[in-house]
Amino acid sequence: IRTRVAIVGAGPAGLILSHLLADAGIESVVIDQRSREEIESTIRAGILEQGTVDLLTAIDPNTRVHTVGDRHDGIELRFQGEGHRIDFPGLVGRSVWLYPQHEVLKDMLALRVASGQDLRFGVTASRVEGIDTDRPRVIATDADGSELIIDADFVVGADGSRSVVRPAITGDSRSGYFREYPFAWFGILCEAPASADELIYSNSDNGFALISQRSPEVQRMYFQCEPDADPLAMSEAEIWETLQSRVPGTTLKEGPIFQRDVLRFRSFVAHELRRGRAALVGDAAHTVPPTGAKGMNLAIADVVLLSRALRALLGEGDDRLIDGYAELALKRIWKAQHFSWWMTSMLHQLPESGEFDRRRQLGELRSVTDSEAGRTYLAEAYTGWPLN
Ligand code: DHB
Repeated sequence: IRTRVAIVGAGPAGLILSHLLADAGIESVVIDQRSREEIESTIRAGILEQGTVDLLTAIDPNTRVHTVGDRHDGIELRFQGEGHRIDFPGLVGRSVWLYPQHEVLKDMLALRVASGQDLRFGVTASRVEGIDTDRPRVIATDADGSELIIDADFVVGADGSRSVVRPAITGDSRSGYFREYPFAWFGILCEAPASADELIYSNSDNGFALISQRSPEVQRMYFQCEPDADPLAMSEAEIWETLQSRVPGTTLKEGPIFQRDVLRFRSFVAHELRRGRAALVGDAAHTVPPTGAKGMNLAIADVVLLSRALRALLGEGDDRLIDGYAELALKRIWKAQHFSWWMTSMLHQLPESGEFDRRRQLGELRSVTDSEAGRTYLAEAYTGWPLN
């Protein structure tokens, strides 16, 4: 088949890109190896930056972000048993929204399907060819096992951390800047009322915990664990005991745990984000550790820049923006990398750290919470730098 832009991956980045391109009169095909049901039930992060919400509202003024989602005007940093609130609107005039990623996906899929987007599920891309020519192509296998070739003017890899598009751009699937962390998060979903009005990021002597939410009836919580922890090895009672011991000062409201998972912690930025007629967005281009909830927001920021660049390239034959895409996107990506690393290192117990490091870390938390400048930096980064 022939299209203008072949988008590999129907996550938030791929779907929003197809919308922004369609808005500019540029037709695209989106493929994903998963089924629509699988995509809609992917449990991921839940926090949307102010700029992400502004964009979703511009795409659909009736977006459920404002009815089902919940605006949060702050978070709490807890350490040494004390809570310290970071007041977002008071510091930076912005907020965040608690609205799970799978809800964003449901909304975007419904909108794209209703607009007649060529969107194909169960299609597995195997490789990308010809990106140094004007006619790149994606070679894929259709749901029924037959070969599907998509000829395009441009190919976008929005296909996540195991991207098939990435090796065509970087020359090697793993070529990039990389860091691993000596811990992971044990995440649960439970049926219970919220234990607090806002999210609690807690640094405790026993390790980190995050008390988050999904809805009035469903809560999301995480605690720092060993990277190779087995999600099934702990009983519900042990999970609650672990969580409770890490948020001294709050009595958690317990309820049946119906989902558990272990999230790996890694930081990654690909060496190249664009080559010829192909570019990477979202997790295909970079991974951040989850602390600070930057992943999806960063993917959407990439897409805003790339959609503008593709509009100029494919609409007007102007290649200046696409030539500047990687450099511009990387400025925000490295700020988000730093913020995610910083929140992570400030809040977790590192196995190699001694008494000095422990006390230094508490000093760091106090430097942030005692200072308006410190709180403002956190609020600015957490609510998201303006999309430029
Ligand atoms: C959630 C995840 C995060 O990584 C975070 O910083 C805040 C919230 C969540 O899943 O709710």
